[in-house]
This record gives sequence, C-alpha cells and structure tokens, in this order.
Amino acid sequence: MLPQELIRAKRDGQALPAEALRTFIQAIASGQIGDAQIGAFAMAAYLNGMDDAETVALTEATRDSGQVLAWDDLDLPGPVLDKHSTGGVGDLVSLVLGPWVAACGGHVPMISGRGLGHTGGTLDKLEAIPGYDIGPDQARFRRLVKEVGVAIIGQTADLAPADKRLYAVRDVTATVESMPLIVASILGKKLACGLDALVMDVKSGSGAFMPTHEASLELATRIAEVASQAGTPTTALVTDMSQPLAPCAGNAVEIRETLRLLRGDAGDSRLLEVTRALAVEMLLQGRLAEDRHDAEHKLERALASGAAAERFARMVAGLGGPADLLERPARYLPEAPLRVTVHAEAPGIVQRLDTRALGMAVVELGGGRLQAGAAVDHRVGLSEIVAIGEHVDAERPLAVIHARDEASAERAVAQLRAAITLGDAAATPPTLIHDAIR
Ligand code: URA
Repeated sequence: MLPQELIRAKRDGQALPAEALRTFIQAIASGQIGDAQIGAFAMAAYLNGMDDAETVALTEATRDSGQVLAWDDLDLPGPVLDKHSTGGVGDLVSLVLGPWVAACGGHVPMISGRGLGHTGGTLDKLEAIPGYDIGPDQARFRRLVKEVGVAIIGQTADLAPADKRLYAVRDVTATVESMPLIVASILGKKLACGLDALVMDVKSGSGAFMPTHEASLELATRIAEVASQAGTPTTALVTDMSQPLAPCAGNAVEIRETLRLLRGDAGDSRLLEVTRALAVEMLLQGRLAEDRHDAEHKLERALASGAAAERFARMVAGLGGPADLLERPARYLPEAPLRVTVHAEAPGIVQRLDTRALGMAVVELGGGRLQAGAAVDHRVGLSEIVAIGEHVDAERPLAVIHARDEASAERAVAQLRAAITLGDAAATPPTLIHDAIR
C-alpha cells in the first residue's frame, strides 16, 4: 500500500492491515518517508484511533524497525526482565528496582531516558555520579547484564529508530496524546530489548503523564494487553503520583536517597512500597518466586543482606563510576552551594501537592531542561518534601531547596509554597497501588 493510500484509509476510519503498517514503519525508519506523511498519519491515527490488532501490529513494527536485542547466546541463568514507568517526580524506582531484582536472580537490561517536561530522568540522575557512562559499547552492556544482572544505560540509535522519528513529529503536530501511538511508542522501544517479561508502572495523580485516573487505567490496560499479544507477558500497575514518591527530587539528591534506601538507612517508605510491588510482579513474571509471599520474602532478604546494594555498586563501578560510592557518597556526589529551609507561612496539615509544579520548580532550579539538549545542574533540587497528611509548623518545614544561587532559590520558595495546599482537617495519605492489570 502506498503511504498516501495508507494515510487515506486511516483518515477515512478504516482498520489498517498489519503488513501495510509494517512497510510504512520500516519506510519511516529508513528515511524513505518524509515528515509531512508521518504527521498526516499521526493525525489520522489520533483522530480515528486504532483497534487492538492495529496497535499490536504498530508495536511489533516499531520494535522490529531496528536492532532487537537477543540474549540466548549468553546462556543466562535467569530471565530477562524490565520495568517501564510513565515517569514522575521523586521517582527513583528504577535505581532501586534494577539492582534489587538482579539480586533475586533476574537480568535487567534497562534502557532509560532523560528528564521530560516536569519529570526527572534516570539517566540525568545517574550522570550525577562522576564517571558513570550511560553509553557503553554493546559488549560491556551485555557483560554487565550477565555478570551483575543489571545495567541501566541510555537509548541507542539503532533501537526502535522509527519511534524516534515518529515521536519527534508527534511532538510538534499535537498528536502525542493518542492512546495507540503512546502504547506502540513505549512498547516498541521496550520490547526491542529482548525481554522475557515486562512490568509497567503507569502513574496517576497530579504529577502523572496521563491527565486522569481513567486515562492512566486505560493506558495500563492497553499496554498489558498489547504487549502480551506481541509476545511479551506484561503486568501493569497504576501507582500514585499525587505527591513526589520519594521525599526529594533532583539528580544528586535522588542518588543520595537511592543509596540510603539500598543500605536500609531510609526504613520503609512510599518509594520502597511501590518498588517492592513492582519487584514482586517481576519475580512472579520471571518465575523467580513461587508466589507473592515467596517473592516478598526473597526481596526482603536481598535488601537486608546488602545484596541489592552490592549489585548497584557493581553496576556503577562496571560503568565507570567510583567503586566506593556506597561507602563514601559525600566524596563523589555534588552538593549545591545554597540550602534554604522553607517553612509554611502558618502551621497546617498538608492536604494536596501540585506534583507537576514541584517537578517544574526542580527544572527551573536547573535540575531539568528548558530546551532540548541543555545541560542539567546535578547539584540542585528539593529534599525533605512534606507528604499529604503531615503537619507543618516552625519545626517541620515544607522542604529544603538546594540551589545554585539566591535568585533561583527565591523563585523556588514561591513555587514551593504555591504548590502545597495546607488546611486544618486531617488528610489521609493516598493509596499507593491503585490498580493491577495481570
Ligand atoms: N513516552 C514514550 O516513549 N512515548 C510516548 O508516546 C509517550 C510517552
């Protein structure tokens, strides 16, 4: 089918045959199709949608548009597993989850991204560690996945290249918010990693990518169905992002929190609870545990024994970072020159947080990007962020700002106060795991 005929068919509301979609996506990857036709296709798909069969075909074509990683030749003793999240604020789940699952026998080749909009990026956080190389060669990546069980690195150019072009065009043609295009985009990249199983973390709440809980639930449901039909068993959880998941946000600050969690210094926390729930699903999907109880037991042991922390340390060292980061974080992680403790103007109980606004405050402090390709300041961010239901007063601040100068700190103080709603009534902390699609 010629590209213009495929666009016409979708424009007129017809379902597209799998083979035609595959040819079209391949032509996008090879550069034979220009941005005009990509944009027209995206708009037709946005307006008329795609059924499940089309979405599966689009996902498989995106996955196969470049290199698809294969692990068979390595004779790995355990399953190849991964998690993907729609992103959030204070969401350092990947940094804890990857090593934790590796310590339980999984192999996690995690291809992560940079900060996007108000959300932080795992790669930006890892680059706060001096020497950490997010772009190792294939041999090193594969060796780490085999020997350490986890390697968190950046996207390579030959993984799902069709999505790179399609996403760039969607970004400037008001077609990002299309369910089938989102599903195929996320899964096309993930399934190209040659996984035995995937767990998806779809966020819901004021810091989530999807605008409503219903939309998050629909995305989770469609991802689980489409991935499973495309041959990769997938479980999806809808988890809470109505407040930052960790009590901090920023790059070096989140690495510090990761180390505290892995060393067991942070105790139980919302971050750990969500990470544990995702890890349980991964162990079950990978048949690394007999049942939920067994999975939880294995995970507790891996954390308490220091095995998860050890995997993180080996991954960091294996990718060029310092071998003693866990023991001496202060020696390596950069600190902002200014720390400002921000109190509420009057005592009260935290009712609501505008998580997106808090994420944007971190971006404006320099912790994220206002323009594509800009450098980030790894030192800046927020710590000690209050949670819903907490009481704030002259003792308990709203948060601590880590800033590079007075001007940016002052702006962040106003943004922080505006993002946190206080009241007199007791407020119940939200449920952390809203839905599970298995
Ligand atoms: N993330 C992606 O990778 N693709 C989308 O379409 C949306 C979010």
